[in-house]
Amino acid sequence: QTTVEPTSAERAEKLQGMGCKRKRVEDIRFTQGKGNYVDDVKLPGMLFGDFVRSSHAHARIKSIDTSKAKALPGVFAVLTAADLKPLNLHYMPTLAGDVQAVLADEKVLFQNQEVAFVVAKDRYVAADAIELVEVDYEPLPVLVDPFKAMEPDAPLLREDIKDKMTGAHGARKHHNHIFRWEIGDKEGTDATFAKAEVVSKDMFTYHRVHPSPLETCQCVASMDKIKGELTLWGTFQAPHVIRTVVSLISGLPEHKIHVIAPDIGGGFGNKVGAYSGYVCAVVASIVLGVPVKWVEDRMENLSTTSFARDYHMTTELAATKDGKILAMRCHVLADHGAFDACADPSKWPAGFMNICTGSYDMPVAHLAVDGVYTNKASGGVAYRCSFRVTEAVYAIERAIETLAQRLEMDSADLRIKNFIQPEQFPYMAPLGWEYDSGNYPLAMKKAMDTVGYHQLRAEQKAKQEAFKRGETREIMGIGISFFTEIVGAGPSKNCDILGVSMFDSAEIRIHPTGSVIARMGTKSQGQGHETTYAQIIATELGIPADDIMIEEGNTDTAPYGLGTYGSRSTPTAGAATAVAARKIKAKAQMIAAHMLEVHEGDLEWDVDRFRVKGLPEKFKTMKELAWASYNSPPPNLEPGLEAVNYYDPPNMTYPFGAYFCIMDIDVDTGVAKTRRFYALDDCGTRINPMIIEGQVHGGLTEAFAVAMGQEIRYDEQGNVLGASFMDFFLPTAVETPKWETDYTVTPSPHHPIGAKGVGESPHVGGVPCFSNAVNDAYAFLNAGHIQMPHDAWRLWKVGEQLGLHV
Ligand code: CDP
Repeated sequence: QTTVEPTSAERAEKLQGMGCKRKRVEDIRFTQGKGNYVDDVKLPGMLFGDFVRSSHAHARIKSIDTSKAKALPGVFAVLTAADLKPLNLHYMPTLAGDVQAVLADEKVLFQNQEVAFVVAKDRYVAADAIELVEVDYEPLPVLVDPFKAMEPDAPLLREDIKDKMTGAHGARKHHNHIFRWEIGDKEGTDATFAKAEVVSKDMFTYHRVHPSPLETCQCVASMDKIKGELTLWGTFQAPHVIRTVVSLISGLPEHKIHVIAPDIGGGFGNKVGAYSGYVCAVVASIVLGVPVKWVEDRMENLSTTSFARDYHMTTELAATKDGKILAMRCHVLADHGAFDACADPSKWPAGFMNICTGSYDMPVAHLAVDGVYTNKASGGVAYRCSFRVTEAVYAIERAIETLAQRLEMDSADLRIKNFIQPEQFPYMAPLGWEYDSGNYPLAMKKAMDTVGYHQLRAEQKAKQEAFKRGETREIMGIGISFFTEIVGAGPSKNCDILGVSMFDSAEIRIHPTGSVIARMGTKSQGQGHETTYAQIIATELGIPADDIMIEEGNTDTAPYGLGTYGSRSTPTAGAATAVAARKIKAKAQMIAAHMLEVHEGDLEWDVDRFRVKGLPEKFKTMKELAWASYNSPPPNLEPGLEAVNYYDPPNMTYPFGAYFCIMDIDVDTGVAKTRRFYALDDCGTRINPMIIEGQVHGGLTEAFAVAMGQEIRYDEQGNVLGASFMDFFLPTAVETPKWETDYTVTPSPHHPIGAKGVGESPHVGGVPCFSNAVNDAYAFLNAGHIQMPHDAWRLWKVGEQLGLHV
């Protein structure tokens, strides 16, 4: 009986490495209710903290009476700004270089702002105590409209910085002004516009929305006074940064702070920042010497922890009559709410908004952004898209459409005419980014062929004629979006958070029997890191993915990293994983050469083993090499097989995609139905096609939500509307369209495995695609730009304004 050695391909398949649709290993616990979330942390003697919140959007606090609340049995403490002041903790630094009130100090600046922190034996007593705290307010004029913020007589919001006419990003021109940020060639751009044949100008508002993860923000702080150590469990997307910030704010030495982010139920950017709840829980635990838990409810999450967007973008394109784009000019009025708590790298007050020239080759551009304060919750975080990339893509993809209308040109043709060509990569965009790779014409052609673009346009034309003849009340829109993302922050030369450079890390340790534990500085919130990082190691080291355990989120064990947001895990920690694996492989090769008594250069790698070149029957498998590394390493080589890599990416990665949405709208009801949505994504090398598909489905669903209904609105008095799921649209399977996915592969030339990020792409590309579909449907009726969100009520109003209703 002879045994046939499995072929290389058979062995490779068993590894479940890169390219394999490996099932998500974490889902075993998630789908069986065995996840371990912050609210599952239950410690002996643990108390519960909750906030007294402001009913006013802008008011002076005349007095706070906590005596009745303190007298309630089961209440242990009620903290106000007066208690935090002596500790200098009544304000905390924000990621954007501003300060933010932890508990309102003399004034409240937005509705539901934190005014006092009640600590009680359980949530119910805390809720009762909140009702007993008496706050006397003197209402002040409210400012909710960012366009009025810079008027000379606009109410002064930030009295704490009224004399500071220089902010973190330069001069402030007005008491409600935060910063002005400009980039690009203003003179050259203005000169091009002055002599352009066609200038297309519009104001596109990207409304205020909220990431609304299913699990809200929460933490448990536990101070061990004997050891002088603080353990902080929290829903943190960036646990190491939280540890550093807690150390800097509290004065506790960093090695005595243990930050643990257990399983996280979605983040989408909401869990990047530091919130009052974290500071108050830590202070309460230090003061009381027992663990304190703080868990937001849904209304608190939607109305106080960071919002996203709220960008008002005046966008202009200069072009020739036949559609060659010559320049872009954009001015953004950015509504940052009461405090500038945007989550952007320090140097970039408007994030990467300067990716706004998109996928198009143009010689010059200029961008200016003014940030202003209003009486709204602070933030400006990600929402499945960090650093204002989705705003940038919305601006250019809407601008392309309106330019096409003015030129009476097909908008797909206009895009194709202006694409950056494959041979132009690496491509230096006019606002400073160097795109790594792309093949836009190929992706666009594949997408157009698949959806049958030209037939769709013919169908649309026929429908428009029928509508004009009164034969139908339905109009048809074809939405296109061709987006370029910028993800993987970032080279440390460009990007830091509070002075901490933005790199990431991986540490891989092979055990003697050949199984593996690997830890990263990132933190999954559902993206499947436990599954996919193992696939990278499997391919790099020839060890089955099932034998590899991935751990993230414990700052005591994981190497320092900047966390997960902005589709950065794959471009940064994914790269670190490959590089660390390659260090291990190099050592394994030395061990193999010693065992096989050949020179290292005489060995070749074959899936999971080193073979002697020309003598394929002589080999050592990784499993054998792992054992030997501990038990019989070559002389002068230290035992063991492990490596760590801190990866500072040379550049960001630039995934891209071509999306098409076909929509039918009933003009009488405003109800829009997505007939077909096709999304082609290019994220370079694909680690797990099934997870990518899941990421795209999730991102498109959130894009659908944002474009078609979600909004955090305020009335004139600053009352927040949309702070519950009754009002804030969270699509279920019932409303969500069916998604069709596709791909091309253009590897990143600088990433060790050629991978680019993907998590945010569908959101970035999806929102303009939906909005373009709606706008395209109404374009033949000369509707002009229709602002998002495109819910039925607003589309019905459009019909009314156009006099369409019978
Ligand atoms: O930082 P975040 O995890 O949110 O985003 P990402 O780096 O785009 O990765 C999201 C998920 O997609 C991870 O599980 C990645 O491993 C996976 N992915 C992939 O399989 N192939 C890629 N080229 C990019 C991401």
